[in-house]
Amino acid sequence: MQKPLIIALDFQTKFDTIHFLEQFENERPFVKVGMELFYREGPAIIEALKTRGHEIFLDLKLHDIPNTVQQGMRSLASLGVDIVNVHAAGGMKMMQAAKEGLYAGTPLGMKSPKCIAVTQLTSTSDETLRNELLIEETMESTVRHYANMALQSGLDGVVCSVWEAALITKVCGEAFMKVTPGIRLNGDSIDDQTRIATPQEALKQTSTAIVVGRSITKSSNPLESYLQIKDLWGNER
Ligand code: C5P
Repeated sequence: MQKPLIIALDFQTKFDTIHFLEQFENERPFVKVGMELFYREGPAIIEALKTRGHEIFLDLKLHDIPNTVQQGMRSLASLGVDIVNVHAAGGMKMMQAAKEGLYAGTPLGMKSPKCIAVTQLTSTSDETLRNELLIEETMESTVRHYANMALQSGLDGVVCSVWEAALITKVCGEAFMKVTPGIRLNGDSIDDQTRIATPQEALKQTSTAIVVGRSITKSSNPLESYLQIKDLWGNER
């Protein structure tokens, strides 16, 4: 796992997903499976993607009492995915429990999935933080604090916006993963994202992985867009 370019497979069905991936010929992109696809298709979609040779980020954002997250992660580890995640807002005990569950559930001889934490959702604004979550600190200071909690809990990194990556590297070090969505090429539609950045900017801001959805999935030529982003992001072809 060098510096992956991860495609967000935001499709509803296994049929649509595999149909989309068939356009990638000999490329085997790292993919992200989220709630939409996993809740509908279940572990069978993971098995199908693994059989095709894809590395997988299973983006289910667990957030519950430590024991439940531990047991949930134990089940997820048995699927053989590469990255899973939790909400840092669940606290350090929950994050430690997640790691323990992953170790316990990893089949013998296999690598445990990396576990990363969501700091603050990019859909949460400063107003939401203050008026709904009743958090008095600034967004920057909560993100820094949550990232540090994730590090202290033994997690491997965080999901964050490109614009928070440099700060997190400063606080948590270079090896700590910064997985950044909200990536767009110049001229792409912004859609519902607010804090977007180009792949080149992501590199500059010390992201360690980028997650790209619509710029590839809605492109008129997904393979071409994927290869273009891969070049800009600096992966070898
Ligand atoms: O289509 P787009 O490139 O905006 O998709 C980004 C992907 O990253 C989606 O699957 C979205 O759910 C996910 N994501 C995000 N912001 C976060 C966490 C995940 O956009 N903070």
